[in-house]
Amino acid sequence: MSGAKNAVLPIMASSLLAEGPVEIANAPLLRDIHTFGKLLGWMGASVARGEAGEGEPSVLRIDTREARRAEAPYDMVQTMRASVLVLGPLVARHGRARISLPGGCAIGARPIDQHLKGLSLLGAETRLSEGYIEAKAGRLTGATIYFDVKTVTGTENLMMAAATARGTTVLKNAAREPEVCDLARALRGMGADIEGEGTDEIVVRGVTSLSGVRHEVMADRIEAATLLLAGAITGGDVTAEGADAGAMDAVLEKIGESGADVSLPPGGVRVRRDGPIRPVNVETSPYPGFPTDVQAQFMAYMCLGDGSSIIRETIFENRFMHVAELRRMGALIDISGNAAIVKGVPGLSGAPCMATDLRASASLVLAGLAGSGTTEILRIYHLDRGYAMLEKKLSSLGAEIARVQE
Ligand code: EPZ
Repeated sequence: MSGAKNAVLPIMASSLLAEGPVEIANAPLLRDIHTFGKLLGWMGASVARGEAGEGEPSVLRIDTREARRAEAPYDMVQTMRASVLVLGPLVARHGRARISLPGGCAIGARPIDQHLKGLSLLGAETRLSEGYIEAKAGRLTGATIYFDVKTVTGTENLMMAAATARGTTVLKNAAREPEVCDLARALRGMGADIEGEGTDEIVVRGVTSLSGVRHEVMADRIEAATLLLAGAITGGDVTAEGADAGAMDAVLEKIGESGADVSLPPGGVRVRRDGPIRPVNVETSPYPGFPTDVQAQFMAYMCLGDGSSIIRETIFENRFMHVAELRRMGALIDISGNAAIVKGVPGLSGAPCMATDLRASASLVLAGLAGSGTTEILRIYHLDRGYAMLEKKLSSLGAEIARVQE
């Protein structure tokens, strides 16, 4: 498996807090990681890749000692919302930050009110001016922050801002995602004093400075889930090497309920299916619940189920773009509020279709693999944002898939 995009991005942001080089090993060659590197470079940091073998995971080496700019411009934030992750580190490092307010994206409004509430509690003043968030602060001081909603990047932003604040910060109702834990490990490697990551309450005791670190990033649990579902939907046999089953309980549970066989060979996860696909209901929720980033992929799988499934999306308000495309391939799906009622059909037929968001495009690939005929997916830059060499990985599993034009 490749390293987890959503662990690499916050750790790249945390390099702004480090007084030495930060090396991120197992950082896949992904568009979003390249974009984030360009943002750090624009600020004045040096960002270099180690010897990148043939797309093999390589080391990202970031040195922010010369980074002076405390801004993330509109055009960069607009292409990648995760840029908001520089907000906390910039305020902690420079005492100021000017970040374009992330616009909405295909899947939802994506507000950052919780990020701003936390920064204010740490002593920063924030205001919105001309579409930019402007924050300024002296040295941040620790506080207790209660998140009204579980937010992954909100928890990460404030964990980073608190790492060098004066005093202790307690993050309550914190996100528990494995990627949050990976960031905590990287910060601890830089000398931060953090405990409780992975639970609802994270305690950060401020330290005066953080050093560089070399950190190997966790495997990408969303990529692993996508590849395992490719095996399940085609009635195949796929082993995701390096996948961490402990970070995928909810997904593996649902794949098992569908009648596929899930096993844990040393250092990986294996899924095989040769019987019918049993319909399974899914409701997305914050970790350790079923991840919203696997909802579209699982829906594609349920399109071929032996009955009806209800898939409820509770995290984002508009994350059913893949439904219209799946319908064009013959799927029977009705939407009612935040629930999709999927009535299984005997088969899907390939069709030209359009990728919309990163995970929706993965669901179209899965449907195309299981469907008869050829499926051509347009706008696959969405795929490249979060999957390294997906077509190569699937081809190695026996899929007939090719990238037809750059
Ligand atoms: C992270 O986005 C991931 N991105 C997303 O993955 C993932 O889908 C999402 O978490 C949920 O797991 C990265 O880690 C870079 P949230 P994030 O803040 O942090 C609401 C992908 O495909 N909310 O946990 O932006 C928000 O509207 C991407 O790789 C507020 O109301 O998500 C949403 O409904 C897509 N106020 C819910 O919380 C806030 O201040 C969860 O959002 C923040 C969030």
